Amino acid sequence: MKPMLHKKYKGYFDVGAALEAKNLGKYEEILKQHFNSITPENELKFLIVHPQIAEYNFTDCDKLVEFAYENNQHIRGHTLIWHNQVPDWLFESTGALSLSRNEMLRRMENHIQTIVDRYKDSIYCWDVVNEAIDDGNDFLRNNKWKEIIGDDYIEKAFYYAYEANPKALFFLNEYNCESGAKGDKTYDLIKQMRIKGVPIDGIGIQGHYQVDYPSADSFRVMLEKYSRLGLKIHITELDVSMFSYQDRRVDLPEPSKEMIEKQIEKYSSLFKVFREYKDSIDSVTLWGVADDCTWLDSSPVKERKDWPLLFDQDLNPKEVLYSIINW
Ligand code: XIL
Repeated sequence: MKPMLHKKYKGYFDVGAALEAKNLGKYEEILKQHFNSITPENELKFLIVHPQIAEYNFTDCDKLVEFAYENNQHIRGHTLIWHNQVPDWLFESTGALSLSRNEMLRRMENHIQTIVDRYKDSIYCWDVVNEAIDDGNDFLRNNKWKEIIGDDYIEKAFYYAYEANPKALFFLNEYNCESGAKGDKTYDLIKQMRIKGVPIDGIGIQGHYQVDYPSADSFRVMLEKYSRLGLKIHITELDVSMFSYQDRRVDLPEPSKEMIEKQIEKYSSLFKVFREYKDSIDSVTLWGVADDCTWLDSSPVKERKDWPLLFDQDLNPKEVLYSIINW
């Protein structure tokens, strides 16, 4: 029988992939064979799904939902409130008056209500707020939501989502929350929300990593902390860049043998820790399907090819796939 990634993890967690609807055709076989969860990579972002004040665009997301339904896959909803990929109208006043807190809350509520309600039978969990913690010395990231509404924009978003579908699960999604000051801030924010009774079910750990980061041990420490809060943990955007963060080379036609080996080690050690924490981790999603299409080709270095996923540029399985299937 053909090896199946998600079947290997039955009883552990879902194994998912993010993709855009336009790539469904080319990835169809891989998705059916290896994944039991999918995440719309861009289709539910504000700019795409709600480009004008009175215009919603669900066509592409619906294609992914239909595919997942036909193939018995879960769908994660990504993402309701974020500072990126937002339309201009969202933070502009409509009349002579400047945009008030109440009007901003009304726009937020309409958006969340419309989307969560539309997919209430198909999308079981949501990244309600994405990337809300500041990378520097502030606690919360300064963005338009916070500027216009205030710090409570985060909890408001969770309440609106809960009102729209109390049966769904709601996540705060964050990057670089593995350790250090940002890790502490993420933990503190979620803890405060839990104490207040805000309907938050879990933390989404994005998981954009590199061949040399993070260590399995530091990852364990973090998982221990979050699971003690009684939170569900989803790894929402996993990929392992072949380049360490400081490495800004742009001229590599293909990864070196050493890079390939390091990537295998990193994926294997991460999945080992994920398995250890299977009681808290319910879902692990790769941010992409194959190396032919990854956001890392333009971030953090523009126009640099990277190879962070489990399938190669010709959509063939990489050795790293087998390393996490055959453990
Ligand atoms: C990325 C997509 O993969 C790209 O296609 C898009 O151009 C920009 O956004 N953190 C997130 C994701 O939460 O939504 C981002 O996805 C990657 C970083």
